[in-house]
Amino acid sequence: MSPLSQRAFESVTRLFRQVSGIQLTEAKQALVVGRLQRLAQEAGDASIEAYVARMTRPNAPAEEMTRLIDRLTTNETYFFREPQHFNDLADRLRAHASQGQPREFLVWSGASSSGEEAYSIAMLMADVLGLKAPWRVIGTDLSTAMVDAARRGLYTLDRARMVPPDYLKRFCLKGQGAHDGKLLVAKAVRSRVHFEAANLMQPLPASLPSFDVIFLRNVLIYFDTDAKAGIVRRVMERLRPDGVLYTGHAESISNLQLPLRTVSTSVHVHA
Ligand SMILES: C[S@@+](CC[C@H](N)C(=O)[O-])C[C@H]1O[C@@H](n2cnc3c(N)ncnc32)[C@H](O)[C@@H]1O
Repeated sequence: MSPLSQRAFESVTRLFRQVSGIQLTEAKQALVVGRLQRLAQEAGDASIEAYVARMTRPNAPAEEMTRLIDRLTTNETYFFREPQHFNDLADRLRAHASQGQPREFLVWSGASSSGEEAYSIAMLMADVLGLKAPWRVIGTDLSTAMVDAARRGLYTLDRARMVPPDYLKRFCLKGQGAHDGKLLVAKAVRSRVHFEAANLMQPLPASLPSFDVIFLRNVLIYFDTDAKAGIVRRVMERLRPDGVLYTGHAESISNLQLPLRTVSTSVHVHA
């Protein structure tokens, strides 16, 4: 692996922080160097130093900047991760259905990565509310590469370990030919999920409505306290007065002094 000077490491992590809000620490240095090495090779730069110098100039090429931000984000995710939230959501969906309300039920996956979380939510909604009921899922992510992957809804089978067998049968198609060993989320479910790019560090797109449920999981962990508070405040503005916010189990927001109440582990409502 070619070396990266401390100065170059700092300038690229500063740039990444300005765009994403995420501080990559020294502990991530080897990972960052590995990813930059591939980017530099693909872009035809002679070294990572040359790549970093080019990308930290004010006139850095926009397309390459998107690629750089995409590669430096951590996109680890899988279907039905942290299942307690899905059990909690199922209860809320049943309560909503029992009111016989025709109102559309809206759920947001606020850092949707490659889409597994949003499609898990949609499969549960298809099961509990049915495909005829009015509901929608919106997934957003900083990484445009992840948004594109999510829209495809095509996954290797090893990502589907946690999908209930019944859901696999009802809501997924087994890939054939070129897609052997893969699953495709069925069109009936896929068409109820919309993905778009959104940076949680910036004002949220006006297109995002008020949601009944927001999943904001395994993303706050990357931010410092101020950035975290800013994100949660912005996100809560899009939560209905009776709505619920889920954060990752490892993510504490109780110290942020925000007008919210934690009702059980990583489940929050407006105060
Ligand atoms: C580890 S994944 C979490 C995926 C999913 N929520 C889960 O719990 O499995 C974190 C995601 O947050 C996204 N992300 C990082 N910074 C972001 C920002 N400022 N705005 C929006 N998304 C961001 C990354 O691109 C990545 O896809």
